[in-house]
Amino acid sequence: MIYQIYPRSFKDSNADGVGDLRGIVEKLDYLQWLGINAIWISPIYPSPMADFGYDISDYKNIHPLFGTMDDFDMLLSEVHSRGMKMLLDLVPNHSSSQHPWFLESRSSRDSAKRNWYIWRDAKPDGSPPNNWLSVFGGPAWEWDPSTGQYYYHAFLKEQPDLNWRNPEVREAIFDVMRFWLDKGVDGFRVDVMWHMVKDEQLRDNPPNPEYQPYMADYEKLLPVYSTDQPEVHDAIREMRRLLDGYDDRMMIGEVYLPIHKLMTYYGMDNSGAHLPFNFQLISLPWEADKISIAVDEYEAALPDGAWPNWVLGNHDQARIRSRVGAEQARVAAMMLLTLRGTPTIYYGEELGMTDVAIPAEEICDPQGLNMPGKNLSRDPARTPMQWNDTKYAGFSEARPWLRLSPAYKRINVEAQKNDPHSFLSFYRRLIELRQSHASFTCGNFVPVFSNRQVMAYSRKAEGDDEFLIVLNLTHKPCSFELPKPELKAKIILSTSPWLEGNEIGYMIDLNGDEAFVATVSA
Ligand code: NOJ
Repeated sequence: MIYQIYPRSFKDSNADGVGDLRGIVEKLDYLQWLGINAIWISPIYPSPMADFGYDISDYKNIHPLFGTMDDFDMLLSEVHSRGMKMLLDLVPNHSSSQHPWFLESRSSRDSAKRNWYIWRDAKPDGSPPNNWLSVFGGPAWEWDPSTGQYYYHAFLKEQPDLNWRNPEVREAIFDVMRFWLDKGVDGFRVDVMWHMVKDEQLRDNPPNPEYQPYMADYEKLLPVYSTDQPEVHDAIREMRRLLDGYDDRMMIGEVYLPIHKLMTYYGMDNSGAHLPFNFQLISLPWEADKISIAVDEYEAALPDGAWPNWVLGNHDQARIRSRVGAEQARVAAMMLLTLRGTPTIYYGEELGMTDVAIPAEEICDPQGLNMPGKNLSRDPARTPMQWNDTKYAGFSEARPWLRLSPAYKRINVEAQKNDPHSFLSFYRRLIELRQSHASFTCGNFVPVFSNRQVMAYSRKAEGDDEFLIVLNLTHKPCSFELPKPELKAKIILSTSPWLEGNEIGYMIDLNGDEAFVATVSA
């Protein structure tokens, strides 16, 4: 189980309004109490913060905002002393435009590092080398007047793409990986893994016939030549080989692709990412039939030996509670923590934190600022963690960098910790159940029933109980018959706690937004 910490927003220990490494240390006991066994921390390296740390200017250091290398070493040892693992964010696709590599690269066409980035001449009419667009709006090529060429940036112009076709670049990033692995980190979440290699001929991307004006500008084209190139798998294989040279390290890949393409990121014979992130619960509509079909397709598509994983949210997406509502957020939590595979929990998800409306003049996220009017800012899902009901929610002594949820007086760790019916208690009980049964952590998954309202499946490992999970993904009551009439089951955990302990037969009735886990004896 992985818990994602967005470090700016988790806990501020030095009253500057921005979260930091010492703040994370202060809250490790909380994470341990919750039952978390691995954390992933979004970038903590020196950065001009054009994209809040995803623009790195020194891969082997700590941004002073977050602390020092000593703080980092202390954090890692505190994590390990609690028996937990720690993953860092690795951003190999692009650096900051302020990174010394890029400064050298742009200094002259003859620079030894010119070919570390993707430089091309203008077309005869002065326009960019091809039609590629930036994910953050506008063209993906920036003109450099002093050397008279364009460079490619999939994201901001402050985030030039590294040239992964250049072996020196690969070696430089491998060196970065070794630096952190030698310090003892347990692995990496690799940023935009499917972007790392581009078409050698830099061919134009075709138009997207399904583009609608409300979508991000980037979606005008299908990124068939700028992403997911076959050669990316060679690079990933090399990264994996490097990791395999150490004991027990892992690599998660950020990959937004359809299932059949996502699967290729496990690599031939599992020589790729251990976990290519599975974002289906983020991208699909919250409808039982669609989700249950997708779960089955995903299970069926997994290569031999590949381990599944599930995600409800992250720092780039609307929070689950804001997408599906307060009641369904509990159903979603039960699904996340009972499906087969590693769940990733986004900080605050366990409290039922919501997205927060950020007034236009306070928007910080470049994605929101560059495409105004499209509601693409990611700030609403990045607001400070809500620890208690004091002035700044126990996040900081100072005014936080991004405004707090107005609901923090009610929705906070302290208020929910001792309330047995709170979101947090529900979450913690689910984690506890999951961690104490092999059926959940490594048992098989069997789809039992699904229709437009409900999905049901069972989990079972050798030597452990069998569990039946039934989830109503709508607000309306429903009932159905299980295919096994002889089945006897007892509810052990439910969104309606008064049902716990009740026996159920093969006729199942559920209220709207109801979900339960039952032990099965047949
Ligand atoms: C994906 C990250 O999750 C996102 O936050 C970032 O803006 C882009 N990659 C660019 O690094």
